[in-house]
Amino acid sequence: MTAPKPFFITTPIYYVNDRPHIGHAYTTLACDVRARMERLRGRDVFFLTGTDEHGQKVEQSARARGMDPQAFTDEVSQSFRDLIPLLGATPDDFIRTTEQRHKDGAAVFWQRLQDAGAIYLDTYAGWYAVRDECYYQDSELVNGKAPTGADVVWHEEKSYFFRLSDYQDKLLSFYKTHPDCVAPPSRLHEVIRFVEGGLKDLSISRSTFSWGIPVPNDPDHVMYVWLDALANYLTAGGYPEAMPCWPADVHVVGKDILRFHAVYWPAFLMAAGLPLPTQIFAHGWWTNEGQKISKSLGNTIDPREIIETFGLDAVRYFLLREVPFGQDGDFSRDKLRQRANGDLANDYGNLCQRSLSMMAKENDGRFVLNPEAWGEDDQAFLAMLPPLTQAVTHAVSTFAFHTALEKVWDVIRAGNRYVDHQQPWALKKTDPVQMMRVLSCVWVAMRHVSILLQPFMPQSTAVLLDQLGVPPTERTLAALNTLPTGTVTLGTPAPVFRRG
Ligand code: MSP
Repeated sequence: MTAPKPFFITTPIYYVNDRPHIGHAYTTLACDVRARMERLRGRDVFFLTGTDEHGQKVEQSARARGMDPQAFTDEVSQSFRDLIPLLGATPDDFIRTTEQRHKDGAAVFWQRLQDAGAIYLDTYAGWYAVRDECYYQDSELVNGKAPTGADVVWHEEKSYFFRLSDYQDKLLSFYKTHPDCVAPPSRLHEVIRFVEGGLKDLSISRSTFSWGIPVPNDPDHVMYVWLDALANYLTAGGYPEAMPCWPADVHVVGKDILRFHAVYWPAFLMAAGLPLPTQIFAHGWWTNEGQKISKSLGNTIDPREIIETFGLDAVRYFLLREVPFGQDGDFSRDKLRQRANGDLANDYGNLCQRSLSMMAKENDGRFVLNPEAWGEDDQAFLAMLPPLTQAVTHAVSTFAFHTALEKVWDVIRAGNRYVDHQQPWALKKTDPVQMMRVLSCVWVAMRHVSILLQPFMPQSTAVLLDQLGVPPTERTLAALNTLPTGTVTLGTPAPVFRRG
């Protein structure tokens, strides 16, 4: 039997004209949670991220800093790489488009498109927005600017074109037969409307600057940065050699770059005769305290700074709990603080701390689970757990992170109500055996939710699972199907979530 294909998930590769900010951190974190959950389910995962280093925008940024583009991209790419451990992210590969493996693969990809007759040479005349690295038609301009607000310049140059217009019907029938290929559904409709509006052939080379991958057999041209960048998903997977992970299971992208991923990319792949990604998931944008985030307003949010202030897991939790993934959201320090104090410290932290500190005092923190002793109330509470596993894994696999966390918190809050009702502190004096019955039920619930929460909050759950005495090898979803037998030895209880 052949092993199933690894689950292949990608972030966009980030432009190196900018320092990493909350938007980049958000896409990476969402992918990280999904990747960790797949691993927890026992699947092999290939989680890819990287940097997009060619193009006019990067060339201009390098020049503005008085640097050679390669030295400039080396420096900024490193700052994206440094962000990974800070976010607790676990990518399996980090690709840079200036790496040889990418340049070679992208050149082969171009050649395949050319061999398939999908490329021709002509003259491009139209508007280009360097900030978006995107061409716009006259009809798309709003008050002389790109619809994104970016400045446009008129361009006339010899250019290679991709026969995008040939793919309108093929794309439309693909969307129809694969209704999950673009998510959330509102985004699929947006893409369909765009394609139904007609597709023009796409200019895919530039000759007015040189910071790019040379077009095979025509050194006057470099590849259009989006063709170059999209090819990273193949070249990181081994293209043009065997690609054991391809097709990608999901490309996670911001809504601003959906068109490139859901229209151009499938058309390129169709032309090259390659399988298409299973899904493109577009998330929304964050504003900062109600304002659009932009360099010129000086209100970008530095992930490093908020992680230092609130702690990594509080930031991970907030970003994925506060706003349904796919919708726009507003970043506010107050709201982050409320979530950290309320959901984390008061609900989850309190459930764990108050029961663990009582348990640790009995019998040197050793106990044996005794399900025979569990009564109706205990069973009723613990019956919430098996459906929770199902609900959380399903929600994460559809990127409904906020729903997954809501369901977990239903159980955490029920756990606190159960403790309030059972009053183990009162039982301590009258009936210590009954006290341990109650606390061991809470232990089962804490173990369950902490295992499920690992993808979201890897640091805190690792500490809590240590305190709960759950061995690292028994922190998988499969382990949740059975209760531990034999003696459980608790670690030393200590508060895990700080209040701010
Ligand atoms: N280089 C291209 C992607 C090429 S992929 C083949 C690019 N890079 S980017 O650095 O500009 O943006 C990367 C991601 O950050 C995008 O998914 C974008 O949506 C996301 N964000 C940038 N600002 C954001 C917010 N304010 N909020 C949420 N995400 C945002 O595009």
